[in-house]
Amino acid sequence: MTTQITIRRPDDWHVHLRDGALLKGVVPFTARQFARAIVMPNLSPPMTDIAGVNAYRERIIAALPEGSDFTPLMTLYLTDSTDADEVERGFAQGAFVAAKLYPAHATTGSAHGVTAIANVMPVLERMQTIGMPLLIHGEVTDADVDIFDREAVFIERTLAPLVHQLSDLKVVFEHITTEEAAAFVESAGPQVAATITPQHLHINRNAMLVGGIRPHAYCLPVAKREKHRLALRKAATSGSTKYFLGTDTAPHAQHLKEASCGCAGIFNAPFALESYVQVFDDEGALDRFEAFASLNGPRFYGLPLNEGTVTLERGPVNVPAVVDANGTAIVPFHAGETLGWRLVA
Ligand code: DOR
Ligand code: ZN
Repeated sequence: MTTQITIRRPDDWHVHLRDGALLKGVVPFTARQFARAIVMPNLSPPMTDIAGVNAYRERIIAALPEGSDFTPLMTLYLTDSTDADEVERGFAQGAFVAAKLYPAHATTGSAHGVTAIANVMPVLERMQTIGMPLLIHGEVTDADVDIFDREAVFIERTLAPLVHQLSDLKVVFEHITTEEAAAFVESAGPQVAATITPQHLHINRNAMLVGGIRPHAYCLPVAKREKHRLALRKAATSGSTKYFLGTDTAPHAQHLKEASCGCAGIFNAPFALESYVQVFDDEGALDRFEAFASLNGPRFYGLPLNEGTVTLERGPVNVPAVVDANGTAIVPFHAGETLGWRLVA
């Protein structure tokens, strides 16, 4: 039995770091595990221009623990009025490495998102031309579409036509949650990839709803049926280069989740690698973990691989019930559980 695994230093291709005091409280958890991370722009107000993104990067760097060499990779938030020239300028300057498309009102901080793909078509065409990745929150928001179907319907109505029309546009289908999404990614060309979160590999919708309503298992896109979780595990551990690690760690204060209208988001940063490696171990795919965590992402984005390694070893790690993030109590993913792998310091 493998008792330890050493991989090239990994990156997290989807994180929410927030801002202010909370940023300072959560960024050490990501920086402890990952060399780089793609930082989501859904702040309030959202990061819609070069100046805003640059200032946010500075705040992230200022919030890092002493001696950390963590690199935030920034993203631009697309709106109906995003200017293609600003996008190209920011990408060329290295202000951001990608742009994020939130359908308006799909999730937390998406009120200023895109109301119709047609409104951003000139921007997407420019991104295709300059080779800039588009990161997509793939859910429709129509009130008549069941929340458990919103990803599958998005593929049909929006994503498939878009990928067909802009066939060279690099697309990351973020935090996929369904077998339909995995099938779509698999059947698309090499310009389409996907991130997969730890929660969607570990839990199905029962975790949210059986035996009481469990707000800490609630995120968007919401966890689906068991068959979808199994399809995601198969995809992540398949060895396909199209899937990579993206936690979607989304911290919300405990009291904002344990509420009559609880926020969407799972804070998985504290034990993200431990959580993922458990899945690869259970699936007999430890030899494929490095590609998922450390190789496929940078290759898709056209960024260098990290130097250095991290080691995980088999052995119990107790996940606390609550984590203190610079004064904010947050319940982490796997709270109260014992995981079977630990990151060697
Ligand atoms: O669960 C989620 N939380 N999904 C998202 O898309 C946004 C995120 C957040 O920012 O809290
Ligand atoms: Zn997210």
